[in-house]
Amino acid sequence: MPATLTINGHSIPATPGASIFELAERLGVQVPTSCNKQGKCKECIVEVAEGSRLLTPPTEKEEHLKGNFRLSCQAQIEEGDGQIRCHTMRRGNMRIERQALGLPVSGQKMEVDPAVTRDGDRILIDGEEIARSSGPIHGIAMDLGTTTIVVRLVNLETGELVADASFENPQRFGGSDVMSRIHYDDVHGGKLLMRTLSGYLSHVIQAFPVDPLTIYEMVVVGNSTMRDIFFRQSVHSIGQSPYQSITEIEMAEGKRTSTVLVDNGKRCLLPIHPRARVYGGPIISGHVGADAAACMLAVDIIHETRRVAVMDIGTNTELIVGNKDRILAASCPAGPAFEGGAIACGMPGLEGAIEDVRIRDDGVFELGVIGEATQAPEGVCGSGLVDLMSELLRTGRMNELGRFEDGSQRITLDPSHNIYFLESDVNELAQAKGANVGGLQVVFNNFGLDFNDIDVFYLAGGFGRHLKVDAARRIGLIPNLQDEKVVRVGNASIEGATIALLSKRKRKELEELVKRVEHCRLETHPRFFDYFVEGCQFKLVESANASDETVPAGGVVAA
Ligand code: FES
Repeated sequence: MPATLTINGHSIPATPGASIFELAERLGVQVPTSCNKQGKCKECIVEVAEGSRLLTPPTEKEEHLKGNFRLSCQAQIEEGDGQIRCHTMRRGNMRIERQALGLPVSGQKMEVDPAVTRDGDRILIDGEEIARSSGPIHGIAMDLGTTTIVVRLVNLETGELVADASFENPQRFGGSDVMSRIHYDDVHGGKLLMRTLSGYLSHVIQAFPVDPLTIYEMVVVGNSTMRDIFFRQSVHSIGQSPYQSITEIEMAEGKRTSTVLVDNGKRCLLPIHPRARVYGGPIISGHVGADAAACMLAVDIIHETRRVAVMDIGTNTELIVGNKDRILAASCPAGPAFEGGAIACGMPGLEGAIEDVRIRDDGVFELGVIGEATQAPEGVCGSGLVDLMSELLRTGRMNELGRFEDGSQRITLDPSHNIYFLESDVNELAQAKGANVGGLQVVFNNFGLDFNDIDVFYLAGGFGRHLKVDAARRIGLIPNLQDEKVVRVGNASIEGATIALLSKRKRKELEELVKRVEHCRLETHPRFFDYFVEGCQFKLVESANASDETVPAGGVVAA
């Protein structure tokens, strides 16, 4: 009996000699490609979660792939019995709300004063003609995350959101976190990470319901490493102490006046107008990137008089605390666990993801799945994982140290779809949580604030809006604050990128603001490790230790 291949939740007998790509085609599962299975485009990547031993060994065309990643046109089925489970780089409409909720800009009409304007049929950027057309004018805002990418298409004349898309960052084959991507980019020539992303992004842009040549500007935000790789900059220096982007180094040497990066559509290998401007937002430091800067724009911190905190949970969690008078920022290397990465049955918040978990009195799991009522669960996304751990704690099935009380290593959530949760998954999530909480403690400590001193705690991130505040509080992902102080705002980075795309004035404001943000270096704070260890436990986070000794030397640096 041949093995069975399950790809993106669809199963087929795995005929020996067939490639994963061919079997996916028979199932009607779309695999990205530009070379029709020739092994050239490197786009047909799949992540193999189970059954690698039933596949032929990697070919030389796959030498660039790390971990469980394969090119589906190269990986063929071997003789044998068992299960092969894999998925393409996922793509879909992530749970993005089209209107910001909970942000100061919510309900207000966004200022529409873009850099791209029209004078008759002349299309201008900052007053300089780049094209002639009487057609519409579009722009793209992109949040370039280590694990997940979100793209919005906007009409630059009306400010209207035309379309959006999100997809897993295909650069994951180069490692799951920023440091491994830097290492990958260092040792593999040819800008492979950038070119792979451009291929995926091009497909996304071509699928938008407008002529790509009507896209004249793109604003890119992301952590410093993702941004700089996209702009084909060396990221070597971000991986070495003192962890600076090449743009920061050049700014310190007086070679540039800001950390903004600018290129055009042609050089970025995108199907948008070749002379379109591609603008990389300013960064705060090597590890506090343009995504954190975009969050500041989204919460309008420059005009804020209350004390606010922003926690943008992702593979790198961004933390911002302050108001118009003083702002501290830090970035926590949390890893991809809360985006479903490094978790056996984890996945991003796309259709098929379990996002709600409740354990009934009789111990049965009740699961809420994103998508139609008939949608079969394929995995668990970040908000589902938070819910799951909260429920395991509530029912006494997991203790504060993250151990399963029945001594098992595995809890099955849905036997019919083979979805389970491992104790080793809890470890991954504990460490991600520890990094986030440790970062919060350091930033508040350096500011001299206690968590309760804060007026508003913005909880942002791909799942920020769908996370249950109760569950996040119970497992100690966020401080133990009253409900009214915690505001879930979804993806604040993409909001900020959209604001920067639509308003020249806001963009300029941001470029100036980042220069006065104080960057907290977690790695040099003498108590970060203690905070981290404490934060790995699943219990309420009560105090920011504001009474600790004041800011240690080297704990805060001006960005
Ligand atoms: S389809 Fe192009 S590399 Fe596999």
